[in-house]
Amino acid sequence: MVPVAETIAATRAAVAAARSAGRVVALVPTMGALHAGHAELVRVARRLAGPLGCVVASVFVNPTQFGPGEDFDRYPRALEADRRLCGEAGADLVFHPSVAEMYPGRPVAYVDVSELGDHLCGPSRPGHFRGVCTVVLKLLNIVQPDLSVFGAKDAQQVRILRRMVADLDVPGRVEVAPTVREADGLAMSSRNAYLKSDERAAAPGIYAALLATRDRYARGERDAARLEAALRADLAAIPGARVDYASVVDDETMQPVARLDRPALVAVAVSLGRTRLIDNVTLS
Ligand code: PAJ
Repeated sequence: MVPVAETIAATRAAVAAARSAGRVVALVPTMGALHAGHAELVRVARRLAGPLGCVVASVFVNPTQFGPGEDFDRYPRALEADRRLCGEAGADLVFHPSVAEMYPGRPVAYVDVSELGDHLCGPSRPGHFRGVCTVVLKLLNIVQPDLSVFGAKDAQQVRILRRMVADLDVPGRVEVAPTVREADGLAMSSRNAYLKSDERAAAPGIYAALLATRDRYARGERDAARLEAALRADLAAIPGARVDYASVVDDETMQPVARLDRPALVAVAVSLGRTRLIDNVTLS
């Protein structure tokens, strides 16, 4: 079984030993309730760090990125299963701190990345990306990895984190792994466990709508408003779906675009019952 470190000090000591042995250090931050998408991130980290590398997976449900009324309390927690999955995917250490270990007092220092959070998930989740950036910077400072791996599924998150790392000169590379999907196209997510059976049956319609958008783009449509309108109509036809946003934005700046003459991101957030799901595709 892969060892679990519950303190920052123990994690730092394990990483320091690995580094002094000349091993490449890789970090995969997660909130646990791990699935095949997370396993892929750990495998990518292992591949990039090499067979002798030291791969650390963190499992921490970060309270500062949940808003009031969001699912912090009911977010699934499954450390023993997570530990098994991390070990099988090639992790050397699981860092599983308590909330008190990560936030011993009320924190007053935060990291905010402006502009990139103005659209998509930003407006409906105020403070979310500030919480994500702050905890990821803490994890990067604790582990000081040569590389860290994030998933393309959380497209806006990874662009914001890349920008944080670039603008603040945080050492280490940020790598992105592709979205892992269920056989019917639904993007894997720890939150899929919340879906009731009728919601689960409807959920693959989200990716189908994104693929239809990609198809319209491939056939030559370059008008963002028309692509968005057709996408919204497809999403509205999913039984029980409530669309939070369905947007075409510039792939780098995350700002709305009128015409697609540069790479773009099509991103959606859709609620089925009480469960909010996000997904995206790129157009280039
Ligand atoms: P979490 O939702 O647990 O996701 C951890 C990492 O797994 C993220 O980089 C996410 O993009 C990636 N991931 C999730 N589902 C995926 C899928 N189906 N395919 C590929 N990668 C997938 O994202 C977070 O946690 C948190 O915000 C975190 C970065 C850990 C900060 O608390």
